[in-house]
Amino acid sequence: MKIKVNSKDNADTCRIVTGSPCGYVIFGASGDLTRRKLLPAVFSLFTRKKIPNNFFLVGFARTPMDDDAFRQRVRDAISQTDDESSQTETDAFVRRCFYVAGSYDQDEGYLRLKAKIKAAEIQFSTDGNLVFHIATPPSLYATIVTLLGNNQLVWRGCTTTPFQRVIIEKPFGRDLASSVQLNKDLLIHLCDEQIYRIDHYLGKETVQNILMFRFANQIFEPAWNRNYIDHVQITVAEDIGVGHRAGYFEQAGLLRDMFQNHILQLATLVGMEPPVDLSADSIRDERVKFMKSIRPFDLDNLHGQLIRGQYGAGKDGALSMKAYREEQGVGATSCVETYFAMKLQVDNGRWQGVPFYIQAGKRLEKKLTRITVVFNKVPHCMFNTKKSGFNPAPNRLIFDIQPQQAISLLFQAKVPGSKMCLSSLAMELDYHETFGEKMDEDYSTLILDCMLGDQTLFWRKDSVETSWKLLTPVLEQWESCNREARRDLLHGYVAGGWGPEAGQRFIEKDGRTWFIE
Ligand code: BG6
Repeated sequence: MKIKVNSKDNADTCRIVTGSPCGYVIFGASGDLTRRKLLPAVFSLFTRKKIPNNFFLVGFARTPMDDDAFRQRVRDAISQTDDESSQTETDAFVRRCFYVAGSYDQDEGYLRLKAKIKAAEIQFSTDGNLVFHIATPPSLYATIVTLLGNNQLVWRGCTTTPFQRVIIEKPFGRDLASSVQLNKDLLIHLCDEQIYRIDHYLGKETVQNILMFRFANQIFEPAWNRNYIDHVQITVAEDIGVGHRAGYFEQAGLLRDMFQNHILQLATLVGMEPPVDLSADSIRDERVKFMKSIRPFDLDNLHGQLIRGQYGAGKDGALSMKAYREEQGVGATSCVETYFAMKLQVDNGRWQGVPFYIQAGKRLEKKLTRITVVFNKVPHCMFNTKKSGFNPAPNRLIFDIQPQQAISLLFQAKVPGSKMCLSSLAMELDYHETFGEKMDEDYSTLILDCMLGDQTLFWRKDSVETSWKLLTPVLEQWESCNREARRDLLHGYVAGGWGPEAGQRFIEKDGRTWFIE
């Protein structure tokens, strides 16, 4: 379908905003996340002039390294994802990169960091503005912020000019008690306006678009409720396994890894009420309100609401894929879930009786993140006669988040020629075809928002705690079971397929089916 973009409509909102002068400090600078995501994201902001020349980056980690060695790592990291930038741009960026090696729990390294920052602030005129990005193992978050505070690298309330902001990676806690404690620890040295709890799904263009789509188009709002919608389903499938992250994953499992944060945010964007305005707090108020209206899990009947699975071995063509329990770092009797299917009920006027089905898994057939809103069937369908045997599929609105980025509306239309033949057709908006230009990566969007002081796409304290409040009883019940009981409840599936059969039955027993093709 051809989509015409009328850019004159929105000349003002499409303005490209540039971050303020600032220094950006990464804790965990020798790690995987820094290499794969953070450095390419910041470099892309730099080359696209979304951050000014008054900018520098300091990496901090335990690995001994000097500035030159770090700069080489920066070059390697950006060359993995970028093939468009010139040598001059790369050189200009790398010149702004510095490194400090130190222990996370000793003042000494922080004092050297402070000296490095001071020198860079003068060299690049960054007005004292600082963003700290904590991308270390979660057990270090509180220690790092405490030492930043003790060494006067941050101080509570420093929100305007100069600003000090701290980005905290997920997972933010591992249950309700630990997330409450982490918030308390951070709030000794920072106020909530300085804390940017990141969820990279909220930085994806297609995720952000859900809000625009819902609240800038009047035609959908009247139908966006229990009167017209049968159910909502969310699939977050990954083809990769745990790779070399088994150490973390064995402690987390997929519910902590994906549901408590990314997936719950997707459900929330579909389900929340319209905010009164576009301020970060108005939007976050509505997000947390929706989370609070999700019915707590019924622990006495959990299998009706949640099933867990774990991948076994499989094949991808000639390539053999290991079972989860054979992955390096995974115990031979591990009962950690790599798949789940879930049904959420929402107790509010809009969604009462409309289930939200969710399935997510690692080592599934392909990467697919998709939200499908399935509308009710036509109440009386005259086309569905004994003779025609035709049973028109209900309308579906599909948000394809990745890898394809698209919105499609499925509807019925007459097939030309034949007298009475209908077919399901899709009206599709594909982002790349329509907007062409390279879109910002999730991390670029979020880092820039932090530099701009916009917290809309970050988690607020109350929503983190609300999400853990929902999930913690389920995790505790599971963790209190002995290994045999867990093993009996865990459904095996072949790597490279669509999850356990129980995942299919889970939705089919309600007369519905996963839309994954
Ligand atoms: C991370 C999870 O937050 O998100 C990973 O820890 C997961 O397990 C990743 O693979 C998925 O992100 P994306 O953007 O590739 O869908």
